[in-house]
Amino acid sequence: EFALIVTIDGPAGAGKSSIARQVAQSIGFDFLDTGAMYRAVTLGAIREQIEWDDLAGLIAFTKKSRINFDCDRVFLNDVDVTEEIRSPTVTSAIRYLADVAEVREELSNQQRIFAENRNLVTDGRDQGTEVFPNATCKIFLTASPDERARRRQAQLQRIGRFMPLDEILAAQRKRDAEDKARPMGALRPADDAIVVDSDGMTTDEVLRKVLQIIQQVM
Ligand code: C5P
Repeated sequence: EFALIVTIDGPAGAGKSSIARQVAQSIGFDFLDTGAMYRAVTLGAIREQIEWDDLAGLIAFTKKSRINFDCDRVFLNDVDVTEEIRSPTVTSAIRYLADVAEVREELSNQQRIFAENRNLVTDGRDQGTEVFPNATCKIFLTASPDERARRRQAQLQRIGRFMPLDEILAAQRKRDAEDKARPMGALRPADDAIVVDSDGMTTDEVLRKVLQIIQQVM
């Protein structure tokens, strides 16, 4: 029996994680947040004080990193890092790892191993293009920069943080540019991905739309 894979890629702030999680739950698939893996290894490298230009050190550290998920919690080598991996310090440093081909290869392998023998909804930047080119269903979830920034602001507010919109927009623009420019695993829709632009849609509407697409393909 073949395992089924649904990939959901897209830029930061498009609501991928929350949609992918809910999609997985409603179709009874497992869920993989690949951004959390890049975040966890970045946090680990910061804690180990590996220099960002020490590529061999970053690669070796990635290879000995075991990232596990338990319910909604993320563990790096058995240490719970769920909250810490969302800090702005981690977010802005991810590119030092995400730009390194060998780091991507290692995490891509870990993602493929995670997907063995199970039905999976996986969320990231390169899931439909590089990691699972033969996925059953590929979705590229996007929204305009303004809408994504407003959603991010609301999300931050819910956890008691305030950030002005123009600051969020600037950080988002920088991250989009970095994610798109990457020579390997760059942010882009796969040729056979279905693009969903969630501008002006509620989470429920996006969820319904994505479920509809999955039903048509599977
Ligand atoms: O999805 P999230 O915003 O948590 O991802 C954080 C960062 O990790 C992205 O901006 C991107 O640089 C990197 N990433 C990646 N490939 C993935 C998932 C995330 O390069 N599959």
